[in-house]
Amino acid sequence: MAVSLVCVECGREHEPSGIWRCEGCSGMLEVRISEVEISREELDARLSYGNTHYSSGVWRYKELIHPLIEEKMIVSRHEGNTGLYTHSRVSEFSGIKELYMKHEGENPTGSFKDRGMTVGISEAVRLGSRYVGCASTGNTSSSLASYASVAGISSVVFVPSGKIALGKLSQTLAYGAKAIQINGNFDDAMRLVQEAAERLGIYLLNSINPWRIEGQKAMAFELIQQLGWESPDWICLPAGNLGNTSAVGKALSELVGLGLIEDMPRIAAVQADGASPFYNMWKNGYSEIRPVEPHTLATAISIGNPVSWKKAMKSIKDTNGVVERVTDQEILDAKAVIDSSGIGCEPASAASLAGAKRLRSANIIKEGESVACILTGSMLKDPEITLNYHMSRLDGIDARHMNAPIAVEADIDKIVEVFGKNAKELPLDKGEVTPLEIL
Ligand code: F0G
Repeated sequence: MAVSLVCVECGREHEPSGIWRCEGCSGMLEVRISEVEISREELDARLSYGNTHYSSGVWRYKELIHPLIEEKMIVSRHEGNTGLYTHSRVSEFSGIKELYMKHEGENPTGSFKDRGMTVGISEAVRLGSRYVGCASTGNTSSSLASYASVAGISSVVFVPSGKIALGKLSQTLAYGAKAIQINGNFDDAMRLVQEAAERLGIYLLNSINPWRIEGQKAMAFELIQQLGWESPDWICLPAGNLGNTSAVGKALSELVGLGLIEDMPRIAAVQADGASPFYNMWKNGYSEIRPVEPHTLATAISIGNPVSWKKAMKSIKDTNGVVERVTDQEILDAKAVIDSSGIGCEPASAASLAGAKRLRSANIIKEGESVACILTGSMLKDPEITLNYHMSRLDGIDARHMNAPIAVEADIDKIVEVFGKNAKELPLDKGEVTPLEIL
């Protein structure tokens, strides 16, 4: 088995050392693993291996992700193994009968970032790094802070001041990262952290680091394994800095290459309207990304100058994929439907469902096609927006699925009055439908 870091610009190969840019042309690197063989049966057998590193939904696929690493260096929190759900209300909302939700918010720090971070931090341990860092809209920083502290490594995060959700900032601080609040947006933080990493010898763990992408591939591996190695027709995912789109495309190409799946799913990368440079590039056929000033209530994907656009465009091409954009209103409508189905997610995650709905309406997703939406983060990440939505306090947003609390005096007659009917008189509206199905 050979492992190298290959430049996606000039093709130069490097030994897997602590670099994240090509030493020749400064291009982005990707991990290349050759001569791997693994079967569906072996991967299925590992599902019952109990408390070993194979019980992680990332390290179960170790040969496909980081074959070099010794087991004792793996820093894992049993990430992955996230639920796959269907719900009749969500299907009805989107117009897609076979719609799955893969809930990556069920990861240990509440987002899909843990999949890339377990690999990134394990690599930092392998390299003997003392300090790790990233720029973040909040989820990467929470994940980095947690895994670094588990490993006993110091961490620093650069976050855009006032533009990260409360749950994420509090997690990041509590896990012990040094938090640097930049008076600017994510793109400013991303630029500065790269300079700081070079100058200060910090191991950079944004998804510009190719090992992060390797870990994130596991989301697609696990999704397809849960579906009994059957590909869905589509995988819809929210797109910001574009690491995830890059990772899922790489994972799918590898699955096809290894003969683990027959059919290539199509990726739909969904951006927020106010932060959609990748959509603009794809739609207009630009040869390079044209940065924008980002504005969206979905703060996780409020990114105007995504670093991984080149790799992500390859993912779209390789999977015959599409790029879509949705408004904040559409995102919050979709979120309210996911939330009230008992599943819940953070705003950015709901862009996947909003995008799927739009693509179904435009008949790009065809009648009868199956769709897996990736819910990238937990509902508890951004409690403020959820509350403000249900109190109808968001400017420019129509709270169509509002569920405000009702203030009632501490008096049983008043409560009966507010409640109205006796519950026993209510019709059984669920009928024979099982609304939530867990796969
Ligand atoms: N969904 C959530 C919840 C995210 O936190 C992010 C990115 C994305 C989707 C988009 O993924 O960047 O790979 O295209 N969050 C990063 C962060 C930027 O810093 O936590 P992407």
